Amino acid sequence: MSRYDVIIVGSGAAGLTAALALAEQLKVLVLAKGTLNGGSTAWAQGGIAAVLDAGDTFEEHIRDTMIAGAGLNRQETVEFVVERAPHAIQRLVQLGVPFNTEGTNLHLTREGGHSHRRIVHVNDATGWAVQEALLNAARKHPNITLLPGRSCIDLITGRHELRYSASGRVWGVYALDEASGKVEAHTARATILATGGAGRVYQYSTAPRGATGDGIAMAWRAGGRVSNMEMMQFHPTCLYNLEVKNFLITEAVRGEGGHLLNPRTGHRFMPDYDERAELAPRDIVARAIDAEIKRDGLDFVHLDISHQPADFVKHHFPNIYEKLLALGIDMTTQPIPVVPAQHYTCGGIVIDLDGRTDLPGLYAAGECTESGLHGANRLASNSLLECFVFGESAAAHILANWDGFDRPPQVRGWDESRVTNSDEEVVIQQNWTEIRRFMWNYVGIVRTTRRLERAAHRITMLTGEVEDYYGHFRVSTDLIELRNLLQTADLIVRSALARHESRGLHYTLDYPHTSKVARDTVLVP
Ligand code: FAD
Ligand code: SIN
Repeated sequence: MSRYDVIIVGSGAAGLTAALALAEQLKVLVLAKGTLNGGSTAWAQGGIAAVLDAGDTFEEHIRDTMIAGAGLNRQETVEFVVERAPHAIQRLVQLGVPFNTEGTNLHLTREGGHSHRRIVHVNDATGWAVQEALLNAARKHPNITLLPGRSCIDLITGRHELRYSASGRVWGVYALDEASGKVEAHTARATILATGGAGRVYQYSTAPRGATGDGIAMAWRAGGRVSNMEMMQFHPTCLYNLEVKNFLITEAVRGEGGHLLNPRTGHRFMPDYDERAELAPRDIVARAIDAEIKRDGLDFVHLDISHQPADFVKHHFPNIYEKLLALGIDMTTQPIPVVPAQHYTCGGIVIDLDGRTDLPGLYAAGECTESGLHGANRLASNSLLECFVFGESAAAHILANWDGFDRPPQVRGWDESRVTNSDEEVVIQQNWTEIRRFMWNYVGIVRTTRRLERAAHRITMLTGEVEDYYGHFRVSTDLIELRNLLQTADLIVRSALARHESRGLHYTLDYPHTSKVARDTVLVP
């Protein structure tokens, strides 16, 4: 059993931002599944949105965010985040993130839904540079302990105290040591979930393997509300390639002039769907591509930037250029085959501006949360920003209230007395595949009530099977993830069934209208 002041689950942008802020005064343990850079942060391409251009204003960034979010955003949160963006970028510069510059200013690129050039970036691999800078700083800090290879299973709450308590107070986590197979209890006065999204609940996703909604499922099981889980964002342009399944082609390609073409006719179709053409918000572009693909029976559409000078393309997108070239596509002369794929989880654990969840002692930040920033659809490059702002605000609240945090009590160890080693690993693989396929087919870009009900029916059947398996066999990372994936699928489908309108990312043929009043879908455990 280990004891720290604060435990953070997740070593991406949100987790490490919080860790660095807390470590000025407190001892922090950061736990991560697999490697320390295995989350979405390291994969981010486009950049980070911030008002830095002389002609740009906070009001316009706020307005663009609310337009993309189809009015479901909480204005207070949007203002809170947008106004803190320049400071967040300044901190990253201080940490050594080598953002692209133009003269003495940061270079700003453009993405869909933004009325200005507003995206700071490091070529087309911003996330990698940010992850490295945060990790370097965390590694050097004497108050931060980084423990990779730990798959957290569940939160430790009052129920796990030696003297049972129904308070719901969170005291840390039970985590599987992936190397030894042992489950350890890690306790602390405060816990922050920064576990990222749930993209892998879909068959096609740009997200890394570990994006299985673990934090959302853990908070839900412990009694925290989740909100707007039906708002799953599909990125319009994921590379279509039979070998490379989830390589994103950044929105900045469209921002820098790329056109979407129907590969059969060569027709540039986006102006037929929206006056903003390729720079319309993602939900609109993804649905337009989906409509072209379904109408003409296509496998993909084309994203073409070959009309721009070759040097310009190579300079702006060096990593994508190299990656595609290795696959036989020269993007300076040829169009890129693309399809939409799940990309971002807009819903999540309900938090306030201090990153507080419903549960005492539990905070959350980043993609696992629903802070009110994104509403019904996230504006491009607002999510890394959300990680920095809420990582800091959660840390600030803990520091400001530290004297009020009790020491953790004695808690029970993990009970393995009634489980054995699994002799049926095939069940896990079978169920993973099944969930991801029916979520893609029934709970995707265009929904109907009947398809959602079909998904709900399958979830009920699988839940019995997975819980039975979980009750009989020792945990493994695959099993932990499968259980969370199924829990998350259930939350998504229940939320989608509860929304009787189409808004932002939730588009259903049975309720095509948008209601006058925007309401969050809040699920209460
Ligand atoms: P992550 O970075 O995903 O980190 C999650 C952490 O939690 C990991 O360390 C993981 O190991 C850990 N974890 C999860 N479950 C457990 C568990 N059970 N036990 C222990 N640890 C656990 N956003 C932008 O703003 N701009 C972009 O340009 C951009 N591009 C993107 C490109 C791609 C391909 C993708 C997939 C996303 C992109 N996004 C972008 C979204 C953005 O990258 C993410 O929203 C953001 O990085 C999430 O950060 P996070 O800290 O919340 O979680
Ligand atoms: C991209 O580069 O297109 C991704 C940006 C984002 O997800 O915000």
